[in-house]
Amino acid sequence: MSAELISGKAVAEQMQNEFVSEVSELKEKHGVQPCLAVILVGEDPASQVYVKNKGIACQKIGVKSLEFRKPADFPEADLIQLVEQLNHDAAVHGILVQLPLPKHINETKVLYAVRPDKDVDGFHPVNVGKLMIGEAEFLPCTPAGIQELLIRSGTETKGAEVVVVGRSNIVGKPIAMILCQKQKGADATVTICHTRTKDMKSHTKRADILIVAAGKPKAVTGDMIKPGATVIDVGVNRLESGLCGDVDFETAKEVAGKITPVPGGVGPMTITMLMKNTIKAARLTLKK
Ligand code: GUN
Repeated sequence: MSAELISGKAVAEQMQNEFVSEVSELKEKHGVQPCLAVILVGEDPASQVYVKNKGIACQKIGVKSLEFRKPADFPEADLIQLVEQLNHDAAVHGILVQLPLPKHINETKVLYAVRPDKDVDGFHPVNVGKLMIGEAEFLPCTPAGIQELLIRSGTETKGAEVVVVGRSNIVGKPIAMILCQKQKGADATVTICHTRTKDMKSHTKRADILIVAAGKPKAVTGDMIKPGATVIDVGVNRLESGLCGDVDFETAKEVAGKITPVPGGVGPMTITMLMKNTIKAARLTLKK
């Protein structure tokens, strides 16, 4: 194995330990306990794991966690009403609606309903727009976690060729937008590849930083990677043989300079950045 491992697990632990003291200070000095409300509709197994892990992180850090679990046939109007109730609840600082939602619910409509200053996911169009113009208040959690891993692993982004595989609203598009900003930990030249990209390998091979959120197990193999590149694997796929990413770790690790493992790479960072946004949302209320 030649590549250095970028341990999201270790970085997440370090950051979460820092948050413990930040939260207790907020409580002691200002009498405010950050509070995150999570809504889960349906029984998607992956979503259930995420929601459970969010609860564990909240407990560890001292963030109050409210969970609303609703059946798969929960009506859209009732979901929006629940979001609005949480919008008006001054004790709730962050609201997260776990995605994907069941097919009968219009996801965009629900994301629009979350108050932008409680939108710890960074999915409301106001926050998406702020990110685009370099004025982000809440960065979406997975892309924010990726940027943090790049910074903390000493990967230079300034002037780097970044190739993102995947164009989802949750990962691909926002990470591309974050890394092309004229800002510290960004300033990269970014290419987005997707399912209609011709000759994917000709793009990935140029990447100093390759970010893979393809939604397909082992979509990127070692022969598609530039020697010495930093490879960030966002995928989590449950195969019979166990968990694997969207990168073929076995062949990729022989070519890459640095690589994130699955599990223990990007995953723990997503939850950590959610905690960061929730604390930030609680702080925002002090200014009002
Ligand atoms: N589903 C997969 N990732 C995410 C995320 O970051 N936030 C929400 N709300 N749902 C998700």
